Formats: sequence, structure tokens, C-alpha cells
Amino acid sequence: MVSFAKLLAPALFAFLSVRTASATPWPSTFHHNTHRTHYLGADRSLKLEAFHPESIFEASIYFFRFGVEGVDPLPTYRRHPRDILNLGDIALPFLESKLGISKDNILLRAIVQGEAAQYAFLAQKINGIPIANAVASITLNGNGKISSLSSSFVKPSGSADVNPSISVDDATATAEKALKGTYNGHKTTLEFVVQPSGYAALSHVIQIQNDTAGTWYEAFIDAHDNTLLSVTDFVARASYRVLPIHELDPTQGFQTIIDPQDMTASPNGWHQEFSTTTNLTAGNNAIAYKGSQLINVAVQTSDVLNFIYDVDLTKDPSSGTNVQAATTNAFYVVNTFHDFTYKYGFTETTFNFQTNNFNKGGEGFDRILVSVQDDYGINDAVFFTPPDGQSGKMQLYLYVKFSPRLDSALQNDLVIHECQHGASNRMTGGGTARCFQTSESAGVAEGYADAMADWFSQGGTTADFVFGRDASKSSTGLRKYAYSTSNVTNPLRYSSLKGMTDAHDMGSVWANTLHNVYAALVIAKGWSTNALTDPTTNEGNVVWLHLFIDALLLQPCNPTFLNARDAWIQADANRYGGAHTCLLWVTFASRGFGVNATDLVDDVSFPPDCDC
Ligand SMILES: *[C@@H]1O[C@H](CO)[C@@H](O)[C@H](O)[C@H]1NC(C)=O
Ligand SMILES: *[C@@H]1O[C@H](CO)[C@@H](O)[C@H](O)[C@H]1NC(C)=O
Ligand SMILES: *[C@@H]1O[C@H](CO)[C@@H](O)[C@H](O)[C@H]1NC(C)=O
Ligand SMILES: *[C@@H]1O[C@H](CO)[C@@H](O)[C@H](O)[C@H]1NC(C)=O
Ligand SMILES: [Zn+2]
Repeated sequence: MVSFAKLLAPALFAFLSVRTASATPWPSTFHHNTHRTHYLGADRSLKLEAFHPESIFEASIYFFRFGVEGVDPLPTYRRHPRDILNLGDIALPFLESKLGISKDNILLRAIVQGEAAQYAFLAQKINGIPIANAVASITLNGNGKISSLSSSFVKPSGSADVNPSISVDDATATAEKALKGTYNGHKTTLEFVVQPSGYAALSHVIQIQNDTAGTWYEAFIDAHDNTLLSVTDFVARASYRVLPIHELDPTQGFQTIIDPQDMTASPNGWHQEFSTTTNLTAGNNAIAYKGSQLINVAVQTSDVLNFIYDVDLTKDPSSGTNVQAATTNAFYVVNTFHDFTYKYGFTETTFNFQTNNFNKGGEGFDRILVSVQDDYGINDAVFFTPPDGQSGKMQLYLYVKFSPRLDSALQNDLVIHECQHGASNRMTGGGTARCFQTSESAGVAEGYADAMADWFSQGGTTADFVFGRDASKSSTGLRKYAYSTSNVTNPLRYSSLKGMTDAHDMGSVWANTLHNVYAALVIAKGWSTNALTDPTTNEGNVVWLHLFIDALLLQPCNPTFLNARDAWIQADANRYGGAHTCLLWVTFASRGFGVNATDLVDDVSFPPDCDC
């Protein structure tokens, strides 16, 4: 066997040292993968270019053909040759040796023990203060090898004085004025932000909200000159295409579901927070309620936990018990999403949403607030994802373009799409909720959200999936095409991204690619009827979901589409020893995401050893 260190060293680490050697190692031209133009504030009149240094993502999958599964992390850290090392002990010295950045300037933010790998999430720092947009992650696989590394670390050309000359109060006033909202009381922090020039500016980081306008931002205000440097937008907005109404879809029948809660994922069920049990649509994972206050939750209809409300879809959502039925449905979907993703790895330690974390790690007190028939918007549904430890907020609006109006809380595909925004935002980048901020990564996030709704909708077949069929009354739903293995029904390929600017359009390229991966896996490996509750089997739908959840943790902050593809293949290497590597490459290649795809130009090739 050829020595991996020798092969990998020039490819991976020469590249890194070149990139970080220059003061401005990124191109100054506009890039999907480093920038995003935000239109901010209540009236979206403030234009701001947010900047994120380019990430590199190197994964051992590219070296598989040499029979290699990863880099030996610093053999000198091992007392005995067979010791399996703890990533917490080696992440800093490993990064130091590979990136040439002193470990004194690296902050270890979180270590996550997953089933298939350990993950470390890190940030660069200057004099003890983290750089918000210079982050890294490292993965250690089950055999004690480093199997992937992502980094947007930089060698700043200079940095601001660490002592702010602007007070938090003054910075808050600037942020409130610029973003037309109010400081929400969340603890402010002091962080550096690297500018496109390579200079690290010091900033006060302040959360600004405006419920009326439906905005929730994290503002980075320069702590020396009191200007707005950058923002994180916590909302995943679903500004859907408006389509003509033609016909009403038949509604799927309502059913009474008994005890759906999963006691592994939710040890105290869905209606208990710490020692308080409620008989409301409120519990440890979520609270669902009508409107914008935490009141008017649906109440059980008898003296046990029964939430049986009649729904009459021929009447307005405000009529009869329609609002209670909608609240119950949203509560059920959000809790079900919590429970089954928990089984696949979205847990307390990977930054999920729960009030009580049962001392299992992560930050608690952040169950999802689900506002049903919310009147802050129409024809839409949104999810705000702040960092771990702050509640996610789902706002489900009415579709007023129909008569009677349609309640998004009764559209399971929309609710799941919004739930997935929360999961993606928490898992990628280690709970910061800052890692889908470039234009391209915003598209990746939309794709994941549609793809999860697709997975949910599938029976044992690999049928086409129409996202938002009811909410659009269109045969292609809220997107331009149905998701399909047919390239006639859905022609989207990697190169289709060229010229796209809308995150949902871009997302549908990724969602359709994942639909094709799903179909290939189900055709090859069959379909489990118990995938929601049993993640231990090997059917195609189970494998797909494991790769999905693992990839969320693996992919770098602000992933490109190619990073996301690589993360799926790397996830397969970590969990299944690469058993589906060729299936994945061949399927990705069939949509233009082949091994040599780059810069939104298709490539249909796959590794030579996948030729069959
Ligand atoms: C919040 O947004 C609304 C418009 O949607 C605006 O009228 C109001 O002034 C904003 N609040 C603040 C504090 O700027
Ligand atoms: C539970 O619900 C019933 C109605 O079914 C209500 O009468 C009762 O007061 C509620 N109990 C609590 C503790 O809220
Ligand atoms: C569409 O699919 C067919 C059959 O699967 C294939 O022969 C054809 O080349 C594909 N067309 C494009 C543009 O990919
Ligand atoms: C990918 O491109 C490289 C050169 O850039 C070439 O050597 C290699 O053969 C290509 N791979 C495939 C599978 O076409
Ligand atoms: Zn979305």
C-alpha cells in the first residue's frame, strides 16, 4: 500500500498553505460561495454585502482508490500505537501543524460524538477573541483517522485593537436603526469579522428582531467606528412562486394517531417540560399555538391526552375547530420530526431543539415555538433559527389566495420543509446557525428542506414528488419542476445553477439530485416500512437518511453544492466503509455533479473503478 501521508500531503496541505499564505487569499470578484447580498431591515431598503472567506473541504474519499481511509492524526500524541485518540486532544495541534496557525489562536467550540465519526468544530481567534467567519471542522472516523477537514481560516492582513472604543449601547442603537428592529435582550458578544480586504475588524454582535416585519438578525457592528459590518439572517424565508389556481386537490384523510411519541427520543413524551406536565400542545420539543402569543394553545379534548378536533376544509381556517386541528397537526409533525431525526443523529449533542436536554449535552431551553395561523405574513411559512440555546421559531401563515383560505399548518410538506431548515442550520457548523449565509449555501439549505419533505412523502416506490402541491394547486407544486428520476419531467443539472439567483430555484437542483440518489438507493437496497422508528437496518430509505443527517455535520460552513456532494460520499465512507460510493458517484454524475464538475460546469464522469 502506498503511504497515505505522502499522497495526501501535496494534494491537501500544499493547497492549504498556499491559500493562507497570502493576506487576501480569496478572489475579489463576486462569488456565490463567498458573498451574499442582503436586503435588510423592515422595508429591505438597506443593501449589504456579507462576506465569508472561502472554505476548503478536503475529504479522504478522494484517496480511496489507494486504499486509504484517512490521515493518521499526529502519531506522537499516541502513547501506544493502538490507542484511539480523542479528537478533543488532537484537533488543535492537528490544525496547527496543517494550517500553520498557532493553536493559541484556535478555539475549540464543540466536540460531537456521532455514531459514525467524531466531529470537532473550531474557530480562529485573535487574542482570545473568536473570528466569527473563520471556522473549521475536523472529522475523526471510527478507525481513529482524520477523514475530513474543512476550513475558512485566514492569515489576516491586520487586526483591530481588542479593546472596543464604542460601547455596546451605542452599537445597539446603530444596529436597531440600520436594521429597523429592536435588540431582543440576548447576550451580546465581541467577535472579530474578517473583511474582504483581509483585515480583521472587531465587532459587537447584537440580535435585532422585528416581529411585525418578520425579521431576526445578528448584527456585527464595528466596535471602533460603529458601522454595520455584516449580518446573519436567521430566517429561512420561503418566498414561493405565485401560480394560478385551477383545481382543488382532494385532501388526504385525517386519521387518529395514538401515542406517536418515541420514548428514546422524547423520554418524557411530548407534553412534559421538566416536572411540569401539560394537557396542551406544549412540551419539551415544541409548543404550538394560534397567533403570535404563547396563548391559545390547543387543549386536550378529554381528561387524557386526546387532541381530537374536527377539521372542515370546505370552511375557512378560522371556522369551528379548524384552528385547534391545525395546531394539533403542526404540533404532531414538529414532534415527529424531532423524534425520528433524533434517532438518526439530530440530538442534544448535535444542537437540537429541546427545553430539557436531560444532561446529555448541548444547550437546552430552545424548544420550537410553532405559531399557527400567524398573522405576521401570508402565502408562506418561515423558520427562524438562532444558535443552540435559543428557541427556533416557526411561523405558519394562511394562503389567502384561495377560497377558503388554506392553512399551511395542515400541509405536512411545508411544515417538514421548515423543520429541516432548523435541523440544517443547527447541525452544519456546530450549532452557530451561521453557516448558510452565502448565496450558494442558501440554495443548498432550500434543497435539503425540499428533499426531506420528499423522503417523508415516499411509500415503497420512487415516485415523482411535487413539493407544495396543495399550497400551489399546480402540477409542479411550488417549484418549476416535480422531483423526478426522469430528465424530461425534471431536467435540472449542476449547470442549471448558472444564472440562478433565487435560493429556492437553486435548491430544487440539489433536491432533485437527492431524489435521484434516493431512487437509486431504494432500487438497489429496498425500502423499509419502519424507517421512522428503526434506523438500524440497511434498506435504501434508511441509508439515504443516515447519509443526509451525517452529511449535515460533515459539510463545511457555507457549503457549496460540490461540498454537499462530497459530504454525502464521505458520510458513506465513514458509516458504511464506502459501500455505496459508486452508486453515489454515478448518480451524482448523471446530473452533472461528476468528479470533475467545477464552477457550475457539468461533468458526467465518475471514478474509474466505478465503471461497470
Ligand atoms: C418594525 O417594522 C415595521 C414595518 O414592518 C415598522 O413600521 C417598525 O417601525 C419597525 N420597528 C422598528 C423598531 O424599527
Ligand atoms: C386539562 O384539561 C382539562 C380539559 O380537558 C381542564 O379542565 C383542566 O383544567 C386541565 N388541567 C390542567 C392542569 O391544565
Ligand atoms: C436523459 O435520459 C436518457 C435516458 O435515461 C439519456 O439517454 C439521455 O442522454 C438523458 N439526457 C440528458 C440531457 O441527460
Ligand atoms: C478529471 O480531470 C483530470 C485532469 O484535470 C483528469 O486527469 C482525469 O482523468 C479526469 N477524470 C475523469 C474521471 O475524467
Ligand atoms: Zn425554505
